[in-house]
Parts: sequence; structure tokens; C-alpha cells
Amino acid sequence: MSASQQGPDPKIVRRLGNGRVKNIIIVLSGKGGVGKSSVAAQLALSISETGMPPSATSSSTSTALPKVGILDVDLTGPSIPRMLGLDGQQILQSSDGWVPVYADREQRLAVMSVGFLLKSRNESVVWRGPKKNAMIKQFLGDVRWGELDYLIIDTPPGTSDEHISLLEYLRPFSPTAVLVTTPQAVSLADNLRSLDFTRKVGLPLVGLIENMSGYVCPHCEECTNVWGRGGGEALAAREGLKFLGRIPIDPGLVRVLDDAKEEAIKRAKEGAPARGDDGKETDQRPARQASVAAMEVDVDVTQPLPPTPAPTSAAAPADEETRAILAQTTTPAGTMLSRTLLQRYRDSKTFPVFAKIAAQVLQGVAEHSRRIAEEGDSGVGMRRE
Ligand SMILES: Nc1ncnc2c1ncn2[C@@H]1O[C@H](COP(=O)(O)OP(=O)(O)OP(=O)(O)O)[C@@H](O)[C@H]1O
Ligand SMILES: [Mg+2]
Repeated sequence: MSASQQGPDPKIVRRLGNGRVKNIIIVLSGKGGVGKSSVAAQLALSISETGMPPSATSSSTSTALPKVGILDVDLTGPSIPRMLGLDGQQILQSSDGWVPVYADREQRLAVMSVGFLLKSRNESVVWRGPKKNAMIKQFLGDVRWGELDYLIIDTPPGTSDEHISLLEYLRPFSPTAVLVTTPQAVSLADNLRSLDFTRKVGLPLVGLIENMSGYVCPHCEECTNVWGRGGGEALAAREGLKFLGRIPIDPGLVRVLDDAKEEAIKRAKEGAPARGDDGKETDQRPARQASVAAMEVDVDVTQPLPPTPAPTSAAAPADEETRAILAQTTTPAGTMLSRTLLQRYRDSKTFPVFAKIAAQVLQGVAEHSRRIAEEGDSGVGMRRE
């Protein structure tokens, strides 16, 4: 029996329901390597750094910066920890489930990925379908996300077990999706398949982003359309999707996202002072060992997943216990990594380009929420053929 036939999973409802997680955005593409993870990472950074545009903040007049979660369900190729400079960080366990890794001291950007459970970045895991399903269920039902304005979900390419599990579990929470393509014909064709999938399962799309669209030479400013340009926009127009914008190829972005941790370590070694999220210098003592046991998840396919503790209360915000755990483990070095990454991302050519795309995404998400509220629609229809 599928998750959708069984009704909402109570553990997941407890974590994501009752307005605790307000908006869920799934990043999809039919093709690998087109920039799903970098779009998901940029969306998380952009929203948590610049806040919500006024059009996305319905009736609220709050100027507080939003709380964002990013969940990486690319189980065989997790790249979010590396892109956010969080490689090597560990998931910790509280009496009420797993504590996500926070990229910042204010705990506004929570991150969860199978990458945190692997012993090394190069370790590979072989997953069978039921294992994938169980892992995704744990990520949704056992992680203490707390209150989030946006949960962004990075997915593997195509439409596989991960997508089906995800959509079945998220059905009651009305998720939306963003499609990412590059301009090449092969990517466009693969994305037609993803589009067909979203239609079959009734997953509403906010729109489509064309990534790696042209390359502007830093010397002569001439734009070369390496893989063509405009194919994504044409596909969006033909299929009645909103075109959210195009991101050019930016070698600077690759350095920001692919070398986030190395760059910060290099800076530290060169003697540049580490800075906390308040911009003040911090000392660089080695990380203290957490007094709670780090979650040692054995992802060997022959082993069952470890049990998670029974819930202790109905509420799951980042409470005193979470704060106490994080106080022991959020190190000055970790803070420095995220600070360095944010500064470098803000300095990149892509930041202003993506900020406009992020605003469009949030506007689309806000429209979707309003529609759901008006129609009383539960979102994903899960039509199956
Ligand atoms: N606009 C861009 N300009 C330059 N490089 C980019 C751009 N977007 C993404 N990249 C780079 O392309 C590579 C692939 O991107 P990314 O990992 O985000 O793709 P993906 O679709 O998530 O891949 P996978 O299918 O393997 O999960 C990364 O090295 C990333 O830094
Ligand atoms: Mg990826």
C-alpha cells in the first residue's frame, strides 16, 4: 500500500503540518548536471540573506528574515553539504529527533543531507528502493526542523524512487516545484519527461529556470552561447509555464559553491581572521566534542536504519535542548565557513541575477499558497496511470 493510500504519516504531519513549515519547494530536472543543487543552494542562500519580497509576505508585516531549510534527497550524489561549505559536519540527536546542521549562528538556515551521514565525501552507498523510501521518510518525519518559512528540497535527476516517495509523503502539505534546464536540446527533451511526471502526479510548477545560459567573457564582455540560449524560455512558453529567468555560466559561481570549504580553510591558514555571523572576529579553537552521541547512521544496505527516539511532546521548535546541543557543537570554524561563503556569494556576478529569479520563485509560491487557501485544495493529486 502506498503512503498516499494510507493517509498522512503522523510523524511527518507533526514536523511539517499545522503551519510549522509554511512552503515547500522541490527543485527538479529530468537531466543530471544542469544545476539543480546549485539552484537549490542559491535559493536557500538568497532567501535567507535577502528575505522575502513584499509580494510574498501575504498579510504579514514582519520584516524578520525568513527561516529556511534545505533537504538534500539526492541519496547517491549528495552535493548540498559541499556547496554550503558544511562538508564533515555531523547530524546530532536530541531527545526529539535529529537536529539539522545549521549554516549560520542565528539558525536561520537548516540543512539535512545523507552527505552528513557518510564517513567521507567519497564514500558511495548502494540504495535499494525501500531503503530510499525509509531514508526520505526519516528526513521528513524525524528531523527537528522547527518553524520554517521555506523548505527547499534538492532532488536527483529524473523521476525515480526518491521523487515518488517524496511526493507521496508531502501530498498533504501542498508542495510546489521549480524545473531547471540548460538550453541544450537533450536537457529540454529530458525536462519534457519531468514535466509530464509533474502533470501526472498533479504537482504544481512555479516555473522553469534556464541555467548555464550563455557565457559572458570577463575580458571582452561578449556573450557566447556555449550550449545555445533561449531553449528553456521557448519550452516554458510552449508548455504554458512561467519562465523564471536565465542564469549565465559563471566560473566565479563554481568557485563559490564547489570550493566553499577549501577556500575558507585556505583563508584561515593564510591568517585572515575568522569572523562570526555578527562580523566580529572569533577565535579558532578546535571543535569541542558534543556531549550527546553523534548520530552514527549505518547506511550499509544490509543493515536496518537506526531507530529514532519516541517523540516527547507535540511541539518541535528549536527549543532549549536544541540550543544547548548546538551551543556545544556550533564551532567558530563552522560559523566562519558560512560567513565566508555568504560574502563570496554576495560578491559573485550571479548573486544579483539570481536574486531576481528567487523573487519570482517566492512570488509564484505565494500565489500557490493563496490558491490553496482559497480552493481548500490539498495540492499533489497523485494521479497514477
Ligand atoms: N550558472 C552556472 N555557471 C557555472 N557553473 C555552474 C552553474 N550552475 C551550476 N554550475 C556548476 O555545474 C556543476 C553541476 O551543477 P549541480 O551539481 O548544481 O548540478 P545538478 O543538476 O545538481 O547535478 P546532479 O544531477 O549530479 O545532481 C557544479 O560544478 C556547479 O557548480
Ligand atoms: Mg545535484
